Amino acid sequence: MSITTGDFRAKITASTLLEKKQRQEIITCLTAYDYASARLVDDAGIDIILVGDSLAMVMLGYENTLPVTMQEMLHHTRAVRRGVKRAFLVADMPFASYHLSLRESLRNASRFIKEAGAEAVKIEGGEKRAGLVERMVEAEIPVVGHIGLTPQSVHAMGGYKVQGKTLLAVEQLMHDALALERAGACCVVLEGIPREVAAMITHELEVPTIGIGAGPECDGQVLVFHDLLGLTFAPPAKFVRRYADVGTVISNALAAFKGDVKSGSYPSDAESYHLPKETLASLEEIAERKRTVRL
Ligand code: KIV
Repeated sequence: MSITTGDFRAKITASTLLEKKQRQEIITCLTAYDYASARLVDDAGIDIILVGDSLAMVMLGYENTLPVTMQEMLHHTRAVRRGVKRAFLVADMPFASYHLSLRESLRNASRFIKEAGAEAVKIEGGEKRAGLVERMVEAEIPVVGHIGLTPQSVHAMGGYKVQGKTLLAVEQLMHDALALERAGACCVVLEGIPREVAAMITHELEVPTIGIGAGPECDGQVLVFHDLLGLTFAPPAKFVRRYADVGTVISNALAAFKGDVKSGSYPSDAESYHLPKETLASLEEIAERKRTVRL
């Protein structure tokens, strides 16, 4: 067991996140879905790594997040776990894994902690999930809430639309956030809501808010790894800032490989393995003897 200190490389926990909010220190969060992306994100010093169910779309090519299964989420979370040393590791519970019975929801949540090494689970929904959040927290499972534009409700919402635009909707969002905090959620993701509403919620809550498409006043910001790096195939949402065009870098590298193989310039002699001199000499001797016998 190691004692955590305040230094840059110290392990991030739910308490570190709370302390960051109290110190008004911004929290960073990114998604990761495999070992390599997890290593890169963790080495960059990002505070929270989320194995988001967005992997259904960006990794598995589904149209929305609904089809991804428990098995798939566990598989990706295990891979990410192997790449993360410092960040707080959160796993998204997939659609229908926490909607049916309390017993099944608790069992599924505990699998992320016990079998995949997550340090918290994230579930979508506000007030209506408060009872479940309370039971998870009682079962020693830290929970991250997620309200506003909740992608698992895409059909119920009638599409991906910014939420919380009317007075009634703003009041409901505030109730949702407070209910999650009272139930014991360690942070709350605010997605796709007006900046002003996110600012009000952030001000009211003691636990940190992590925004995505929710303006700059949240306690932290999260983006999807593939969005930030330009690894998606559709035009990005308004809130996405592309920090690199890795998609183009990859396409250029693939075209160069294809060209080199076709022209015969890859692999070169320097990129080939060679026989030891003595083995080569013996082989040549054998070949020479065979030639002599034939003559
Ligand atoms: O699945 C995901 O990537 C998420 C973030 C966008 C918050 O839930």
